[in-house]
Order: sequence, then C-alpha cells, then structure tokens
Amino acid sequence: MSVSNWYNRSLNKIWGFVEDRTAMKRWALRPQPEFSFKPSYWTGAFVAVALVYQVISGALLLLYYQPSTNPTLTACGQTVGSASTAPAAWCSTFYIIHSVPMGELLLSSHLYGAYAMLFLLFLHFFRGYYVGVYKSPREFSWMVGTLLMVVTLGMGFTGYLLPYTQLAYNATNVGVVLALRLPTFGPLLGPLILSDGTGQGLLSRMFDAHVVLLPLALAGLFYAHLSLFESHGIAPPATSDPLQRRRFTDREEKEHVPFIPHIFFYTLKWALLYLGVLFGIAALWPWTLPTYVGNTAAVGVVTEPDWYFLWLFKLVDFQGVTPVIAIGASSAILVYILFLPFLDRSKRTHPRDRPVFIFLGTALLEFFILMTVWGGETPGVQILPVLIAETLGPPFAVTALAVGLFHWRYRASYRRRLAARQSQTFAGPYPPAASPSAHPTPTATEVPGSE
Ligand code: HEM
Repeated sequence: MSVSNWYNRSLNKIWGFVEDRTAMKRWALRPQPEFSFKPSYWTGAFVAVALVYQVISGALLLLYYQPSTNPTLTACGQTVGSASTAPAAWCSTFYIIHSVPMGELLLSSHLYGAYAMLFLLFLHFFRGYYVGVYKSPREFSWMVGTLLMVVTLGMGFTGYLLPYTQLAYNATNVGVVLALRLPTFGPLLGPLILSDGTGQGLLSRMFDAHVVLLPLALAGLFYAHLSLFESHGIAPPATSDPLQRRRFTDREEKEHVPFIPHIFFYTLKWALLYLGVLFGIAALWPWTLPTYVGNTAAVGVVTEPDWYFLWLFKLVDFQGVTPVIAIGASSAILVYILFLPFLDRSKRTHPRDRPVFIFLGTALLEFFILMTVWGGETPGVQILPVLIAETLGPPFAVTALAVGLFHWRYRASYRRRLAARQSQTFAGPYPPAASPSAHPTPTATEVPGSE
C-alpha cells in the first residue's frame, strides 16, 4: 500500500470514528447548496471568524490590562523614567507590549483584527445590499445584521479609549459631546457615559461597555442572526425573475452538502488564511502606543478617531453642520439601512432591476470612502459649502448617470427580446426555435416594470 493510500485510509478511519461517536452531521447548522462554495456566499462567516479571534485575543489581554487612571509606579514605572506617573491603563498596555511574551503580537493583532472585522463587516453589508439578500423572507436577518453593525462600531468606539492615550481621549470626548448634544436622549445618556465626570468614570464606563455590555448584546444578536440564517438557508443568486423562490424545497435540502465536514472545512481554510495574514501584518508592522493622557509632551496632539469614524468627524467639520445635524444625518442613514427591506418592495433581486436603490447604496459607499480619506488628510479643518459641493457632487452625478444609462439600456434590450419572442410565437404553426442566445428569453413577468 502506498504512503498516500495509507494516509487517506487512516484519516477516513479517524474521521469515521469521530462522526460515529459525535453524530456531528446532525449538529446544528443546516446543509448548504453546492453553489455556495464561493467566498462571496460566506462573507458573514468571515466576519464571524474575525469576531471569534477578537474574543480570544481580548480575553488574553484582560489578563494584564488594568482599567484604572491611577498613577502607577509598577509595570512601566521602571522602564520609562518620565512615565512613572502614567495612568495604570496606559502602563499596563505598555507592559503588555514590552514585557509580556508575544504581548506585542497579541495587542497588535487584536487592534488590526478589529479593523479587519469592520472591513469584512462592510464587505458583508455591501455584498448583501447589492445582491438584495434583504428581500423576503430575510428582512429580519437584515435588520438584526444592522444592529450587529451598530454594536460592532460601539465595540470599536469603546475599545479606542482603553489604552488611555491622549489621542484616543480627545477623540472619545468629541464622540461623547456628539452624543450629549442629541435632543432628548443626550441628557439621558450623559450620566450613563460620563459616570461621575472624571477620567476614571469615563474609562470605567467604556471598559464595562467594551468587555461586558456590548459583548452580551453582540452574543444575543449573533445568536438571532445565525438562527434566522438556519431558518432560511443561504440566499440563492440574485435574479430578475420576480417569481423565483428564495426558499429551498425539502427535496433540494436533501441534495445539499452537510455543513460538517464540507462547509466547515471550507470556511476553516479561509479562517486559517485570515489568521496567517493578520499575524503576518501584526508581526511586520506592530502597533506603536501613542503617549498617555496628561503627559505634558502631549500638548498639541491632533484629535483623530480610528478610520471607521473619520467620516463622522469630517461631517462635523462642514461649515454649518452642528453636532445635532451630524447625529441627525447619521441616524437618518441608519434608519434607511434598517428599514431598507420595507422600502425596496420589488420582488426582483438583481441589481439591474433596482436602479434607485443601487444608486443610493453606491452614493453611500462613495460618501463613506471620500469622507474617510478627507477626514484622514485634513482632520479638524473646516470645509466651506462650495468645496463640499465640488467634492461630493461630481461622483454622485456620475453614479446617477451611469446607473440610469445602464438601466435604460437593459430595459430596452429586454423589451426587444420579448417582442421578438412574441412575434415568433404568432408567426406560424411551428413551435419557436430555441433561442441561440446564452441568456434566457424573458417571460412577460420578467420584463422590468411589468409588476
Ligand atoms: C458582527 C456582524 C455580523 C456577523 C458576525 C454576521 C454573520 C453572518 C453569517 C455567518 C451569515 C451566514 C452566511 C454568510 O456567511 O454570509 C450571515 C448572513 C446574513 N447576514 Fe450577517 N453578519 C453580521 C452583520 C450583518 C450586517 C451588518 C448585515 C446587514 C445589514 C447582515 C445581513 C445578513 C443577511 C441578510 C444574511 C443572509 C444572507 C444569505 O443568506 O446569503 N449581517 N451573517
């Protein structure tokens, strides 16, 4: 017997034993269709992988981190002479980086892991937006997902202050001021966020939110999100046919491949790649800790949030945009995303059938990217209305034009093909020849605008 034969037979034997003793195939997580073996169908699973790594690395960081603003003489006192009075939160972070074995890798990968999770989350969101996965019956999956996005952004916001650097402290204060200026909710939120108004009060609240409250919310929402996914299965590819089912029959379910081992190993492969890239980046470009709150050398530190909040900070820089307007605008975007399944009521899921929503989604994406770059390049610089119009106007106009043009061409070509088919049907006693085109000939219900 060749070595590879022996190897495969041994693996099969071990796997058979494990399956027999655990009945893994019948564990939760439903079988999935063959067509789902593409990364684009598992963008949510990649977010989940990133989330799992954040939980593990965060739990390890908790072994050393101290959520206190008290000056400390231990941990980093002896190492950095001038920092002997630095707050414990900063010092314990310093200690993790410089004294804990692999601590620098752990902390950097937790931070970059948060960036990666948010990036993958935006990818999952925009992929779902473009292919219309929010349509019936997945409306609640979408709404729970939107809440997951809000909580994940909250995790980023609360985690930013924990090393207690001056940079993070300034940015957190801007965020807090924005929240406090909210009509009605502001005064209610004040004591909740600020506690007794001291630095320690704020740090304690952020710590509590980051390691207890928001993770609990995340766990509950994630459970609901996965349960909904279990009920509906993966969304089939987008289509122009309003009659196509977006649920699977019992027979189709039986033909699907089991989650364990097929999908599990498929996603595990991507998970390992994710971890490899994350560790590689964290090892090559470890994070450097900015100076601590209260350091006299910190005077003049710019106020800058992490990249995923830069768009909001830039919005506040717009002349005439008060904190209330900025919060109002972001709340309006949130409400739009949350209720999107009930705003876009057409039964067609294909992007070409949803020009208005594709324009709005693309405009949102452009707005987010442009504002993030702008916020990073000129943080805190006031922007006049003319410049706002000159920067944001052209991309929006080009998008509207492109989406409108493509939709118009698509409708015209569908109507032409329908007319050709109808004239063939009425032409004589012979059945119409099969269409040589690779695309299916449309039926009356498939013509855009015929619903
Ligand atoms: C922490 C954040 C999130 C996690 C961990 C997560 C995880 C997942 C997972 C594991 C799936 C199964 C299919 C797949 O892997 O793509 C899924 C599906 C889905 N997610 Fe998320 N998700 C998150 C955020 C969101 C957001 C922000 C939205 C949209 C606003 C969303 C909407 C959906 C929808 C509609 C489905 C069903 C899609 C389908 O069947 O193809 N999720 N999510």
